[in-house]
Amino acid sequence: MEAFLPFYGRRKGRQLGNTSKRLLEELLPAYLVPDNTSEPSKLFTNNPRKLYLEIGFGGGEHLAMVAKNHPENAYIGAEPFLNGVSSFLKYCQNEALKNVRIWPDDIRLQLSSWPSECLDGIFIMFPDPWPKIRHSSRRIINKDNLAAFARLIKVGGSLRMASDHASAKNWILSGMLENPYFDWTAERPDDWNVQPHDWPETRYMRKALKEGRKPAWFDFKRVLVEPS
Ligand SMILES: C[S@@+](CC[C@H](N)C(=O)[O-])C[C@H]1O[C@@H](n2cnc3c(N)ncnc32)[C@H](O)[C@@H]1O
Repeated sequence: MEAFLPFYGRRKGRQLGNTSKRLLEELLPAYLVPDNTSEPSKLFTNNPRKLYLEIGFGGGEHLAMVAKNHPENAYIGAEPFLNGVSSFLKYCQNEALKNVRIWPDDIRLQLSSWPSECLDGIFIMFPDPWPKIRHSSRRIINKDNLAAFARLIKVGGSLRMASDHASAKNWILSGMLENPYFDWTAERPDDWNVQPHDWPETRYMRKALKEGRKPAWFDFKRVLVEPS
């Protein structure tokens, strides 16, 4: 059933150069998350202290940096855009990253086979904004995806997002604030207006700043909801 989920983003961009093709052919297999993975933490040999997922890692700048800064943790990155996957593989090669795995496709195809509370957090940096109401079902923060994220993130874990797009900032906040499984950790405007020191920048963030758009940073905590 899930295999027919429509994906509206790009899977390919400019033609891949020989280095990118070689990385996809030769290096990607060592990093791949298999279909229908049932124990994502078992994909790693470093006995990870914590396991995180980044959805839509783009060129992989953020994912590479958090993985490099935290060798004690493990990170799964999902990105269907092959040019982005090959860019991230360059970091994997240059930094000899051992604590990352890659799902080069729509993350929704994986989530239902993962066990509840298997993640310490999810990152979604600069999601596609889909500003038109008729495209709202394509937004990554929607009821179905939030229910899946709430099932997968441990109580006390985090869902971190950033966006520079006015409409996306609104739908992120309104979707999150009406969801009982997540609490917004912000206490003052600087908590969403200032880039936290441990959130590495991304390509879309750099583009936004260059074009004069101000990003917002959202950090939500997964909370316990007592059955009523
Ligand atoms: C606007 S780009 C941001 C890329 C990167 N995070 C950055 O900040 O530079 C959004 C990315 O999310 C990816 N994406 C969208 N829906 C996705 C899904 N269901 N699963 C995995 N990735 C997805 C797209 O392919 C795209 O590369």
